[in-house]
Amino acid sequence: MKEIKVLITEEEINKRLDEIAEEIMRDYKGKDIMFLCILKGSMFVTVELAKRIRNNIQFEFVEVSSYQNNKNTGIVKLNKDITQSIEGKEVIIIEDIIDTGRTLLFLKELLTEKNPKSLKICSLLDKPSKRIVNVKADYVGFEIDDKFVVGYGLDDEQNNRNLNFIGYIEE
Ligand code: IMP
Ligand code: MG
Repeated sequence: MKEIKVLITEEEINKRLDEIAEEIMRDYKGKDIMFLCILKGSMFVTVELAKRIRNNIQFEFVEVSSYQNNKNTGIVKLNKDITQSIEGKEVIIIEDIIDTGRTLLFLKELLTEKNPKSLKICSLLDKPSKRIVNVKADYVGFEIDDKFVVGYGLDDEQNNRNLNFIGYIEE
């Protein structure tokens, strides 16, 4: 049986999301924003962050995958593309975690071709020690060590997404 230990509590996440929301409201004063949620891992942070922001927010969703059996295959697959135009929009990609950076590099290139007015990245978690390609988020919740984490949207083989904290698995 795998034991899940707490790495970041719900209170810590709430506090950090309050801060990021304030920062986004300052940066996008008077502007509409489009949140581009990367399914499925980013659904929790997308909703929780959006609830804290008073700008009008539109939502779009993409689904990508690169993990198989908890191993990063290095190949990013687009399972679901966006369904409305992002041309001329102020887009913020919402990600759960940046690991090698390949997912975000892939999405940045894909979305840049669709001519948004601006394109920024917000990620709840960042594992800078694992980076393979050069990509940086504009808003980061927490930098973490190289641990496999679950909860708050992040999964272990599709499980444990609904934990209200970020945990790590102790084998
Ligand atoms: P990247 O393309 O290597 O940056 O991987 C990013 C994706 O890998 C994230 O969107 C997650 O879905 C997944 N991922 C990376 N690290 C973890 C982890 O520790 N737990 C769960 N999923 C992870
Ligand atoms: Mg993901």
